[in-house]
Amino acid sequence: MNTKISILAAMLLAAPAIHADRIIPVETENVGLVYAVADNGRIYQRYFGKRMLNSADYNVMKNMPEAYITSGMEDYFEPALQINHADGNMSTLLNFVDAKTTANSDGSITTSIYMADPIYKDEVALHTTAYPAEDIITQWTEITNREGKPVELERYASSMLHFDRPAYYLTQFNGDWADEGNMMEQKLEFGKKVLDTKLGARHNMFLSPFFVLSLDKPAEENAGEVMVGTLAWTGNYRHTFEIDQNGGLRVVSGINPYASTYTIGKGQTFTTPEFVFTLSNEGRGGAARNFHDWARKYRVKDGMGDRRTLLNNWEATYFDFDEEKLVKIIRNAKELGVDMFLLDDGWFANKYPRSSDHQGLGDWDETADKLPNGIGRLVEEAQNQGILFGLWIEPEMVNPKSELYENHKDWVITLPNREEYYFRNQLVLDLSNPKVQDFVFGVVDDLKTKYPGIAFFKWDCNSPITNIYSPYEKNQQHLYVDYVRGLYNVLDRIAEKYPDLEMMLCSGGGGRCDYKALEYFTEFWPSDNTDPIERLFIQYGMSQVFPAKTQCAHVTTWNSSASLKFRTDVAMMGKLGFDIRVDELPEADLKYAKHAVKEYNRLKPVILDGDQYRLVSPYEGNYASTMYVTKDSSHAVVFAFNVYPRYNERRENVKMQGLDPSATYEVTEICRQNATKGRVSTYSGDYLMTVGLPMFSGSKMTSSIYELVKK
Ligand code: GLA
Repeated sequence: MNTKISILAAMLLAAPAIHADRIIPVETENVGLVYAVADNGRIYQRYFGKRMLNSADYNVMKNMPEAYITSGMEDYFEPALQINHADGNMSTLLNFVDAKTTANSDGSITTSIYMADPIYKDEVALHTTAYPAEDIITQWTEITNREGKPVELERYASSMLHFDRPAYYLTQFNGDWADEGNMMEQKLEFGKKVLDTKLGARHNMFLSPFFVLSLDKPAEENAGEVMVGTLAWTGNYRHTFEIDQNGGLRVVSGINPYASTYTIGKGQTFTTPEFVFTLSNEGRGGAARNFHDWARKYRVKDGMGDRRTLLNNWEATYFDFDEEKLVKIIRNAKELGVDMFLLDDGWFANKYPRSSDHQGLGDWDETADKLPNGIGRLVEEAQNQGILFGLWIEPEMVNPKSELYENHKDWVITLPNREEYYFRNQLVLDLSNPKVQDFVFGVVDDLKTKYPGIAFFKWDCNSPITNIYSPYEKNQQHLYVDYVRGLYNVLDRIAEKYPDLEMMLCSGGGGRCDYKALEYFTEFWPSDNTDPIERLFIQYGMSQVFPAKTQCAHVTTWNSSASLKFRTDVAMMGKLGFDIRVDELPEADLKYAKHAVKEYNRLKPVILDGDQYRLVSPYEGNYASTMYVTKDSSHAVVFAFNVYPRYNERRENVKMQGLDPSATYEVTEICRQNATKGRVSTYSGDYLMTVGLPMFSGSKMTSSIYELVKK
């Protein structure tokens, strides 16, 4: 090597160039997201990765692209922000104004970076909140119009993150009704990949709002660096992944600006929803546990609280029931040992009784023929039996065959000059209209006022927003956004008046779920598909971000060729419920179900609040296994499923995780077919995690559950 060059290289290594930029670090226990203010007054992302031991190391790093790239300036790829200024100029420049850090009362820390355009004066505040112990970060912006006239927001992302790695692999979760959350991984190449929805209300029907981004190599369950992200917004979302000519990746997340150019007046601020993300060095499993911990502690309604088992009548009766039938089912619920009876669709409307999904939605009075003594009689029966009463509603929707539609067509989202088309024979009410918000709030409020004994609502939403036009909005471009804000307004009012009311979020199966909605809902319905084999996959997909206690899992007759034990065991991995004709169950099945409810109640603290380890993925082949361990590693439950084992196939031991290697555990097979416990053996935690146990067998669609207790 040329001596001059080698001396120079040695000097550079000895004394790296110090960038004297102002550094703004956002740190959790293990993750660092660092911004820098450069000499030109702009804000750059400097680093996003494993938290550095010594924060001085951030000083020697080079800047990456700008933190929140604006349109019309020097960048040629997807911007985070585009403001169409009052004079028609579409460019924005953001200069640093100030930054501050706030310690929040819940232990999280918010870093706010304030920026403004030197010419137009419009302001952007980029907020980033770090939840230190969970390694979760949330990011959102506030955009304020400081011009004399209204401006249009054409793009308004919540977050922009930059990566500079050799390769990127993206896992998305897509599907359809009864086929939600299928995991698909692909390598990203130059250009854009967009994950978005235009469904409006039933926003996750085809694609879940979360993703896994694996850095350098395809994602693994227990190793490798992955980022998992999702938008906390119950409406149209968009995540854009764009790789530039140098192999740099940007991830831009926010509300989908499709048909949603939002105009804000002088002095007004537009607040974007939170993008929630984590970075884990322990693969998808570590990232999921970060999300689960954060969700329980900070986000989900009553996230640290208990969950109730229930019996639902939907699949047992569909629309065909009367008071007598329901009273019997309530007694069945008592016999089964569950905490609650949930009355589903079909109990309301009189002019157009809800005898099918073709009519009645919107008319929330009990059908007199079916329920002559109203809901009150059912609440009373549940109370007599010592269980709770829950009720299905779908208050945002209307059937054209209803009195509500006849009297209030102006409350319906529908195009004035075109023939209406229907999704499940219904239309969506216009929640941008405050009068409609009052009506929707009134559905819950009236029922609760009349029947204070209603302990729970299943809140359904079976249609996307169709026929997109609001009779109320002056600017149709605002409808998608204002609909969601109207929904939150209603949910805020319900939360304020009925703070302890538990609710399940449902949307024609798993068509709606995100981390804003879950502030109001204790749980959600991941899919109408309750075939246990399918549920192994669906629950696995959803578990990438949602903890077990939020995932309702019911035992039904879908795939009745699977034993009741197999169906129940799958459902026990989430929030257990039943939707089955209890009085028609063979004696042995009823005995198993009753036993399982008791065992589940005993094990709820482990399953619902413990750490989840996905030991064997159903995507890997013919088996699946998931384990839950209490935070102190003293108690664990392992579920093992033989889905479709091949003849004479080699079967591996299941190696456990999360145990104390130096402790001894008593291992018992519980919930055996005949509702008994199996033989007890003891093993060290080290053995269970290193060698594992032979939990799989060759019999198709069979399952076993093991309980581990530290001695
Ligand atoms: C949706 C839900 C079901 C059930 C029906 C009732 O499809 O996902 O669980 O409540 O509506 O119509």
